[in-house]
Amino acid sequence: MAESKPSILAIVGALRKDSFNRQLAAFAAEALGDRATFSELAFADVPLFNQDIEHPAPDPVRRVREAVKAADGLWFFSPEYNHGVPGVLKNLIDWLSRPVSETERQVLSRKPAAVSGVSTGMAGAIMAQDQLVGLLSLLNARVMNFPRVSVPNARQQLDTAGRLTLSDASRTFLQRQAEAYLKFLP
Ligand SMILES: Cc1cc2nc3c(=O)[nH]c(=O)nc-3n(C[C@H](O)[C@H](O)[C@H](O)COP(=O)(O)O)c2cc1C
Repeated sequence: MAESKPSILAIVGALRKDSFNRQLAAFAAEALGDRATFSELAFADVPLFNQDIEHPAPDPVRRVREAVKAADGLWFFSPEYNHGVPGVLKNLIDWLSRPVSETERQVLSRKPAAVSGVSTGMAGAIMAQDQLVGLLSLLNARVMNFPRVSVPNARQQLDTAGRLTLSDASRTFLQRQAEAYLKFLP
């Protein structure tokens, strides 16, 4: 019987259509090739967290929880906003951090997670990554703390159409991260 492929759910910390982080996720999908299934979590419709609307969970929240539960692993691709995790991503994690029901724990627990990011600044989103690693660890995710990929200076790496082109060095690092994550997954 053929072994089934792991499913990896990409979580992109920016909502904008042409997000460099979404483009980085596409490079990661290439690096994984056909060894995993790879899809992106759509979460633009998740409302701002508010305990007044927590129960019953709004439909978009149920949907993202199911998607996270079903995935073998999560791979975060996030920019940093003002040296921190973008609010939309923190909001998503706040929803995911809450127990599903009285009998079902939150969906991030024990979930394997990889972290990467690209920014237009010099630091390649590493401060947001450090925060993200802390958050995910707090929530008992199994974070692959090494290797992590951070790509700085995105605007210096664009083609004439304004799309992100990765330097050979960044491609190599991303490939290494993909190989490590495939081994890290259960
Ligand atoms: C509100 C805001 C805050 C930002 N803060 C930082 C920052 O702290 N460090 C940094 O390197 N880039 C920062 N940037 C620039 C982002 O790196 C850049 O907008 C990047 O393209 C965002 O990722 P995306 O292309 O995936 O949307 C900031 C951008 C915004 C909109």
